[in-house]
Amino acid sequence: MTISLTSLMSVHRELDALFLYHQRALLHLDSALALTALQRYEDELLRHMKDEEDLLLPIYSQRSEYPAVGAPKLFIDEHEKMRAHIEVLKDATADLADADDIERSVLRILGHEAFYLRLSSHHDNREGTYLYPLLDAVLSADERLDLLDRVWQGSELRQTANI
Ligand SMILES: [Fe+2]
Ligand SMILES: [Fe+2]
Repeated sequence: MTISLTSLMSVHRELDALFLYHQRALLHLDSALALTALQRYEDELLRHMKDEEDLLLPIYSQRSEYPAVGAPKLFIDEHEKMRAHIEVLKDATADLADADDIERSVLRILGHEAFYLRLSSHHDNREGTYLYPLLDAVLSADERLDLLDRVWQGSELRQTANI
């Protein structure tokens, strides 16, 4: 079996599933569940971003020959934007409990979330095109295994990953 860091891309699919769970709760006007689900999504998202920023991107910066569209700063900047969007969405979801017109408020949140999801999907595609495959190309099998070990040690999602 080839050891590949692209197996970590399964985290993106798990994150998408958690976000969808949050959106389902919104559609059912269950503001408490929507907020809990969004917080869970945020926890996992931050953990994943930290792994990328602390473990993967430093090596990528030093050793990979990336093109301008795959520059490390772009990934960091996108992480920052995504974190900021999630903060706004959490506040808006928390405010639903006191909303005068909850359907209207939910529609506004879903509109914002459509924008967020495009940003997130663009980011995931960029990582899938540059970060993960270019890292694979410069790392030995032992180095890849070591990195995977360190990432999965801290993740609750590792049981569902196909590695
Ligand atoms: Fe990322
Ligand atoms: Fe990622």
